[in-house]
Amino acid sequence: MRSLAIRHRGNEIRTGAAVAEIPAAGRVFPTRREERADKMIGTRMQAALNGQITQELYASQVYLSMCAHFEGEGLPGFAHWMRAQAEEEREHALRIFDFVNDREGQVSLEAIDAPPSGFGSPLEVFEEALGHERKVSGMIGDLYRLAMDEADYPAQVMLQWFVNEQVEEEKTISDIVDRLRLAGDDKSALLMLETELGQRTGDPETGPAG
Ligand SMILES: [Fe+2]
Ligand SMILES: [Fe+2]
Repeated sequence: MRSLAIRHRGNEIRTGAAVAEIPAAGRVFPTRREERADKMIGTRMQAALNGQITQELYASQVYLSMCAHFEGEGLPGFAHWMRAQAEEEREHALRIFDFVNDREGQVSLEAIDAPPSGFGSPLEVFEEALGHERKVSGMIGDLYRLAMDEADYPAQVMLQWFVNEQVEEEKTISDIVDRLRLAGDDKSALLMLETELGQRTGDPETGPAG
């Protein structure tokens, strides 16, 4: 019977084993990322980034729910802005998804909570969006701190993009909140903002811009 001697990264991992004894799947050394001890991402970082993928997808659901609300209110400009924001959050999730894969980690998708519904006025909706973004900024800060504790430099570089993005998102939404407060009960000011937000277009680098 023919025997095998396989070297992988300098270690002889199977010597003299008969071909007939190779597991049915044909694996003679761990190829599945979960089983590999030498992958480039740490277990804690991988788990935390998988959690953030879920959070970004949840954010996407929140904005899509806000989009549905505005559609129902007959405010297509606000709805358009929220839909673009939902797509941007999905892009964020995929950015982390790609990073985990590029680092030979294992992406594991989790259940996404149902988003809120039954929103109030445009001002209340955007205030809620701002509160949500501030929470996400906190999460990104926690991830960055973990990347520093773990001396995971690639994760730090990747997360710097998110740190900047959160500054941008908080500013964009905070500006809209300010303008909605200024508009108050003035319907024509509200409709002017409605038209403006309806013109939101995509940005080649970051997806749809605010
Ligand atoms: Fe995001
Ligand atoms: Fe966001």
